[in-house]
Amino acid sequence: MSALARTGGTGSPQASTVKVWDILTRVFHWSFAASFAGAWLTAESERFRDVHVILGYGMLGLIGFRILWGFVGPKHARFSNFIKGPAAVASYLRSLVGPRPEHHLGHNPAGAIAIVALLAAGLATIASGWAVYNDLGGKWIEESHEILASAMLAVVGVHVAGVVLSSWLHGENLVAAMLTGRKKAPGAGH
Ligand code: HEM
Repeated sequence: MSALARTGGTGSPQASTVKVWDILTRVFHWSFAASFAGAWLTAESERFRDVHVILGYGMLGLIGFRILWGFVGPKHARFSNFIKGPAAVASYLRSLVGPRPEHHLGHNPAGAIAIVALLAAGLATIASGWAVYNDLGGKWIEESHEILASAMLAVVGVHVAGVVLSSWLHGENLVAAMLTGRKKAPGAGH
C-alpha cells in the first residue's frame, strides 16, 4: 500500500498526509521524554531513589534501541537520513531567515544535532549516575552527574524551542506528527 494517504472525505479538498515516524520511533520518543522528566523529578529524593535508578536503566535501554534503530529502522528513523555535515546545518539555518525556509520531511539538519546531543548526553548522564550509585569516584562524579543532567535539560529546552519554531515556520504541527506519525505530504500545500 502506498505511504501516501488521502485524508479527505467526500470531495472536499483536504491535505494529503504521509507516514514519517514509525510506531517504535514514537514510542521511543515519548518514553524517553517521560523517563527524563521522571528521573529529573526524583533526582533529589531518597524515597524515590529506586525509581530514579530504574528510570536511568530504562533510558539506557531506550538509547540502545534508538542507536540500533538508527541503522536498521525505516527510512526516516535512520541516522543516514538526517545526520548531515556542517554545511547542510549552516544552509538550513541561513534559510530560516530568508523568504523560503528549507523544508525537510524527516528531521532537519539542525534538529539532528539536538537529537545526537540528547542521546550522547543521556549516555554520559547514565554512566555517571551508575558510578554515583555504586560509590565510584566520590564527590566529583556526583557533581559531574548533576552537570550532565542540567546540560541535558538545556538541550531539551533548545530541542522544544526548535520544534515550536519549526512548526511555526512551516505551518505544521510537529508535536501532532510525533504522536500520529503523519506529516503533510510534500506539495500538499500549507
Ligand atoms: C514537551 C516536550 C517535547 C516535545 C513537544 C517534543 C517534540 C518532538 C518532536 C516534534 C520531534 C520530531 C522533530 C522533527 O520533526 O524533526 C522530536 C524528536 C526527538 N525528541 Fe522530542 N520533544 C519533547 C521532549 C523531548 C525530551 C524531554 C527528549 C529527551 C530527553 C526528547 C528527545 C527527542 C529525540 C531523541 C528526538 C528524535 C526522535 C527520533 O528520531 O528517534 N524530546 N521531539
